[in-house]
Amino acid sequence: MKKSTIKKLESYRRDYIGNVYHELKTPIFNIQGYVLTLLDGGLEDPSINREYLLRTEKSINRLIEIIEDLESISRLESDVVTLNLGKFNIFTLVKEVIELLVVKAKKRKNRIFFDDMNNTQIFVYADREKIHQVLSNLIDNAVKYGKQKDGETRISFLDMGENILVEITDNGMGVERKYIHRLFERFYRTDEGRSRDPNGTGLGLSIVKHIIEAHNQSINIRSTFGEGTTITFTLKKAD
Ligand SMILES: Nc1ncnc2c1ncn2[C@@H]1O[C@H](COP(=O)(O)OP(=O)(O)O)[C@@H](O)[C@H]1O
Ligand SMILES: [Mg+2]
Repeated sequence: MKKSTIKKLESYRRDYIGNVYHELKTPIFNIQGYVLTLLDGGLEDPSINREYLLRTEKSINRLIEIIEDLESISRLESDVVTLNLGKFNIFTLVKEVIELLVVKAKKRKNRIFFDDMNNTQIFVYADREKIHQVLSNLIDNAVKYGKQKDGETRISFLDMGENILVEITDNGMGVERKYIHRLFERFYRTDEGRSRDPNGTGLGLSIVKHIIEAHNQSINIRSTFGEGTTITFTLKKAD
């Protein structure tokens, strides 16, 4: 291996460990603070004991989320991704994912539009569970980073013959042109993204990209800062 390649790999690994450390640090130190307060007499104080336990639980859930994302990523990057391919109706899957996100969307005053064209069926050949993960990530982003009051998230399909194009559009904050190419990087988040959702990990889109590429399909982002974002990806149709 060339010296410069080794150097690059080393710095890449350092960045990676630095990022993991940075993400784990906050919830761990928070838990430490809550537990110390409880041990310091908080446990006997009914006005805070429950609250501090609830906060502890929240931070633990956050740690679990980060660890699950890291696990997904390292499995996807280890090249031993085994896809569990099968035929399924993509319309039904989209409906399932929307149902799981509809409460969150309502809380954020965001409306999800999905025209199921009178229950049309389009069958694709893919790993259903992994495409579930892809759709959840993308629709969750559209809701989170969507417009804050009259947010609209739209999901639509385009028949391309052999493939089907799935499109997820929001009318939210968008991404500055110079950062768009970085969105698929692990841990990468824009400043606006960070301030909108301090709990994100920045791993979602890199997981999504890995999954789509493992299917030999493609994914694409278009975005206009302050106006909105559209993400499209393709899936192979099944007959
Ligand atoms: N629909 C979107 N609109 C605007 N920015 C987005 C959108 N989706 C993703 N981003 C930007 O890309 C970053 C990475 O997204 P992702 O990998 O899903 O991580 P997370 O959801 O944890 O922030 C986000 O933090 C945000 O800055
Ligand atoms: Mg995300």
